[in-house]
Amino acid sequence: MAYRITSFNEYKQEYQKSVEHPEAFWAEKAEAFVWIKKWDTVLEWNFTEPNVKWFSGGKLNITENCLDRHLAERGDQVAMIWEPNNPDETVRKITYRQLHGDVCRFANALKNNGAKKGDRICIYMPMVPELAVAVLACARIGAIHSVVFGGFSFNSLSERIQDAACNIVVTADGGFRGAKDIPLKKIVDEALLTCPSVKKVIVLKRTGIAINMADGRDVWWESEVRKASTDCPAEVMDSEDMLFILYTSGSTGKPKGVVHTTGGYMVYVDYTFKNVFQYNDGDVYWCTADVGWVTGHSYLIYGPLLAGAITLMFEGIPVFPDAGRFWKVIDKHQVNIFYTAPTAIRSLEAHGLDYVKPYKLDSLRVLGTVGEPINEEAWLWYHENIGKGQCPIVDTWWQTETGGIMISPLVGITETKPSFATLPLPGVQPVLMDEGGKELKGNNVEGRLCMKFPWPSIIRTTYGNHERCHDNYFSHYKGYYFTGDGCKRDENGYYRITGRVDDVIKVSGHLLGTAEIENAINQHPDIVESAVVGFPHDIKGWGIYAFVICRNERKDVDTLRKEILETVTKYMGAIGKPDKIQVVPGLPKTRSGKIMRRILRKISEGETANFGDTSTLLDPAVVEEIKNGAVK
Ligand code: WT7
Repeated sequence: MAYRITSFNEYKQEYQKSVEHPEAFWAEKAEAFVWIKKWDTVLEWNFTEPNVKWFSGGKLNITENCLDRHLAERGDQVAMIWEPNNPDETVRKITYRQLHGDVCRFANALKNNGAKKGDRICIYMPMVPELAVAVLACARIGAIHSVVFGGFSFNSLSERIQDAACNIVVTADGGFRGAKDIPLKKIVDEALLTCPSVKKVIVLKRTGIAINMADGRDVWWESEVRKASTDCPAEVMDSEDMLFILYTSGSTGKPKGVVHTTGGYMVYVDYTFKNVFQYNDGDVYWCTADVGWVTGHSYLIYGPLLAGAITLMFEGIPVFPDAGRFWKVIDKHQVNIFYTAPTAIRSLEAHGLDYVKPYKLDSLRVLGTVGEPINEEAWLWYHENIGKGQCPIVDTWWQTETGGIMISPLVGITETKPSFATLPLPGVQPVLMDEGGKELKGNNVEGRLCMKFPWPSIIRTTYGNHERCHDNYFSHYKGYYFTGDGCKRDENGYYRITGRVDDVIKVSGHLLGTAEIENAINQHPDIVESAVVGFPHDIKGWGIYAFVICRNERKDVDTLRKEILETVTKYMGAIGKPDKIQVVPGLPKTRSGKIMRRILRKISEGETANFGDTSTLLDPAVVEEIKNGAVK
């Protein structure tokens, strides 16, 4: 088992060691795992191409470390507790031995359907244990999983499948989310009209809704698994073989397929899981994130299973059947460690304490947050009302691209401070840059957050397009990884992430590209052009404000708004729905045709003056008109 820090002094020593001797530091952590063959070189890297390799020459399979390795000691221990959307449905508890069997069986089912090492397999599923089984089964046979969040709709799904040229899709007939049923298979059918690479679709029965099964292409999970054996030797993977692709939104163009590889990712998520949360044997750990996001990959599946932990998966949403559901589940399963997003905390805070009071919450020892900055008020509410003033809060900053937690307190070890992610974990070397690319030394500074040294789970490439990886993350500041976040360092060296500095918006903790949303809005036949910006939102952190140009005059603006929301939901998914839509006569464009988003952002925030220099605008008068019609 990987090393666990137990005091602040030890943290400082570990940190020091990780900076002075990174290779020795990480080699020691890696020793704790099962390697089929040990690595030749711990680290080779440059941030110019970029090219980063951890544990080169090492051979392993991550599922042997998540599953097989635990069988002797904890085969009959629960690995996963599953809480269904409907509280009256039966809870499932799956032991390490059962999970191992399920993974091997489904791995064979994949093979029987033509899957081989190196194939890309798209997983588009509800939050049921079979989702974790599908992920691990891919890893078992060396296929690269690409999980797409079930809240994305057909076009988003299709783009992601096409980009990775997946040959298999694993899905379900439908999914339950609160009072709604999501017709997953129907969305897959629509997506596949534009995905010629897909040869097989494996469908889990979940909601029982009637679906279309395409002859020769679509097969049922149940019948495939029935035919498959539970004996599936783990594929031998190189440390740098791809483990998964996960799409994340960028400021321009289509989503990027962030690529993570096997050895370094494994070592880093295990180390960070144990150290940040201070997981003790037998603790019940609950991460509320969907597996469609990186948090679900690293801290619902891989991290906890590598550590031999008990991980809870919840199918539903925080407000179903009522806003006390999270707290009810915590009492029901005696959850010790609870990890969620600020947006959920703010929304539950807004529902009032009557939903919290009926529950004891006395099993809780640790609280965590992730995904967006947590404001001081929400932090204090969480601390007092959920943690009863007793549970340290770990505000964990990281990204899809970082693979694992980067800046965070360690439970009970690092002194916390509301709205601060506090200090870098061992192995993480953050720097703040000014806009000119000068490193800001010392404390009490604010700049753009970069990293100057690789950690084991750093992004390796963007799938199919290495240049994009370079341009997005390694070109702004030569020799550094650029996060896209603004950040302050206080007088004690504590980090506070202030938010994105690029054209992506964090809506309820979900990263959405403005271009992606605009593209969806533009599918409406009456819309000629649109521009989307984020505006501060009390619960979601950021809301979506869309400025749209209509082809022909529409008097019924409310109907038009409704139609746009339907279009976005159908094409992209409900998470892209604008909160505010304003029909405008034109957009503030420069002579070269670039939209000046700065001005739109100000208008969306309710500003009526101080738009800065507008002299480069093609038609400065349009600013007045937009301002006067702003949606409050
Ligand atoms: C962006 C990454 C981290 C996994 C889930 C999100 C923001 C994330 C925090 C935090 C302030 C945070 C940043 C980052 N973010 N955690 N604790 N405090 N901001 O992964 O979708 O790739 O988003 O989320 O802006 O760049 P992601």
